[in-house]
Amino acid sequence: MPVINLKTEIPGPRSRELSEVRHEHVSPGPFHTTPMIAAHAEGSVVTDVDGNTFLDFSSGIGVTNLGHRDPTVMQAVAEQAEKFVHTSINVVAYEGYIRLAERLNALLPEAAPCKTFLANSGAEAVENAIKFARVKTGRQAVIAFEHGYHGRTYMAMALTAKAHPYKSGFAPFPAEVYRAPYPDFYRWPGVQGDPGGCPHATECPLERCFCREIFNSFAEIARGQIGEQNVAAVIIEPVAGEGGFVPAPAPFLKMLRQWCDEHGVVLIFDEVQTGFGRTGSLLACHQLDVTPDLVVMAKGLANGLPLSAVTGRAEIIDAVGLGGVGGTYCGNALACAAALAVLDRFEDPAVLSHARTIGEILRHRLEIFTERFQRIGQARGLGPMRAIELVSDPVTKQPDKAAAQAVVRYAYEHGVILMACGTHGNVLRFLVPLTIQEEELDEGLTVIENALASLQ
Ligand SMILES: Cc1ncc(COP(=O)(O)O)c(C=O)c1O
Repeated sequence: MPVINLKTEIPGPRSRELSEVRHEHVSPGPFHTTPMIAAHAEGSVVTDVDGNTFLDFSSGIGVTNLGHRDPTVMQAVAEQAEKFVHTSINVVAYEGYIRLAERLNALLPEAAPCKTFLANSGAEAVENAIKFARVKTGRQAVIAFEHGYHGRTYMAMALTAKAHPYKSGFAPFPAEVYRAPYPDFYRWPGVQGDPGGCPHATECPLERCFCREIFNSFAEIARGQIGEQNVAAVIIEPVAGEGGFVPAPAPFLKMLRQWCDEHGVVLIFDEVQTGFGRTGSLLACHQLDVTPDLVVMAKGLANGLPLSAVTGRAEIIDAVGLGGVGGTYCGNALACAAALAVLDRFEDPAVLSHARTIGEILRHRLEIFTERFQRIGQARGLGPMRAIELVSDPVTKQPDKAAAQAVVRYAYEHGVILMACGTHGNVLRFLVPLTIQEEELDEGLTVIENALASLQ
């Protein structure tokens, strides 16, 4: 049975009416990827206020990884709401926060003993991770990467690479943030065509080991522009998310790990988008076999409730004294209950196994699209976190943002909620719920294939 059911033109009359009210009363700042207004969401399906049903290939920007209104999570939230909603961890502590910290600490056994600090959003957790690293090391400099996205608060903006629309007009930003190249082989200077990914061999069999070249460039920036002894932290996404779904190969991350160890630098993985099954393992670092000192989590952590975490080596988290970090709502009781339920759900091995199957289906189908459509410069990703990069010419690799926007529009007009991303805005990313049924995935991908075929 197809899931998509469009009963009105898109957007429908009620969505249009509410959108007018939105334009009048709401800040124009937040994006509008689609013009529909949600009424209900369940599993992989969103129903709008006109009764149209859409397949959700965005998961609220990679948040509802277990699908909308996962019953276990909903029950946990309802039970917590019966007890209390808020006391503030800073005033009267509660078991949910404490137990959640205990369970998150167990996610990094190689870094044990670990401790956790909870906050509300990904950006807020990133800010706090930098605070921990600076206090621990007594140093100031932070190295972030091209394509990096870390959020909208001031430090997070400074760490974010892309100027427009994230940073334009908001300067000045905090100082002592430096940028190194991200291991994007496709767009590394001198690379023609699609070089594919890293072969992950002990001895790199490629004629040019891109991991080594790009790492050398990083090390040179650290040595020449900053001085290693001044670096507090290196922060990297294991798969650059907003920057275009570019996976950082394990060998590159291992070189960073070794460099951080040599120079006493805190290695932070921003797993806000890659976490909670998005790449086929609970955290991406679990399959990359590299342990950061601190990991930043949010999004899928509470499957839709606002919650984020910094988890990592106790000696780093302990460096901040009493009252040094915090916030009224940090680690809210409802959100902690949701996150504990999320972790319970992931204890069932079938959840990650299904996520990996979905990833394989996506990978295979996107490869077929790449053979069929010249406009796809590269299909890539890690597990189910996958994307295609659109170019107007496969030789010059000129980014085709207009084509990506056209596909997103065609998709929602035909019942699929899809998002673009990328430094050049030309990447179509597939953030499907990891619980999506294979038939639903197929139905949505057929719409996307038709959208790509419709491009002039
Ligand atoms: C990797 C990464 N870090 C940080 C953030 C910021 O998270 P939030 O929007 O919850 O502040 C995001 C959001 O997309 C993200 O993808």
